[in-house]
Amino acid sequence: MLIAIDGPAGAGKSTVARAVAEALGFTYLDSGAMYRCVALAELRGVEDPLGCEIELGGRVTLGGEDVTDAIRAPDVSARASQVAARPEVRERLVALQRGMIASGDYVAEGRDIGTVVAPDAELKVFLTASPQERAQRRAEQTGADPAQVLAEQRERDERDETREHSPLQPAPDALRVDTTGRSVDEVVAEIAELVQAVR
Ligand code: CDP
Repeated sequence: MLIAIDGPAGAGKSTVARAVAEALGFTYLDSGAMYRCVALAELRGVEDPLGCEIELGGRVTLGGEDVTDAIRAPDVSARASQVAARPEVRERLVALQRGMIASGDYVAEGRDIGTVVAPDAELKVFLTASPQERAQRRAEQTGADPAQVLAEQRERDERDETREHSPLQPAPDALRVDTTGRSVDEVVAEIAELVQAVR
């Protein structure tokens, strides 16, 4: 079974997807971490960034190196949404993601899981929250200035939503869940109920 959770930056996808996976005993797939790994490899000047081996799990490794924290740096976030606009990058990562979810039960999180990676997912959730709240949450996580986070987020959302290849948009059959002003537990409980309904 596959649960797709898509949505913009800071909507709470990672926290919620991780918690839903844990509650159901499913494996969690963070597709954004893969775009971040390619971005980090590029920023470091690696010759063939797409050829690097990426491993996801409790920690994220790139060519065997633990990059779990390094891929969350603001310059990597910005670069990730640039590399994610390139069709050859998407083609390669989508193929890897499809291989990963081919067997077993997954909660996969990203921008295009329900539209491109797995249009046949049993449940598709599009997670949103107001731009201000999304930026506030991210600022609290990282200790950065909320106004600056909001400005960077706006730029990244705009790039993700308007790109030619696989722009961020809800699948026609996705269920919208707005997390503004709601706790993680509340949202996880709502999604767990949605899962029970399709099981
Ligand atoms: O955690 P946050 O939502 O800020 O970002 P992320 O999910 O780690 O994704 C980083 C960037 O990768 C996004 O801004 C997208 O440009 C890109 N991405 C994508 O294009 N498709 C995906 N399935 C996942 C991420």
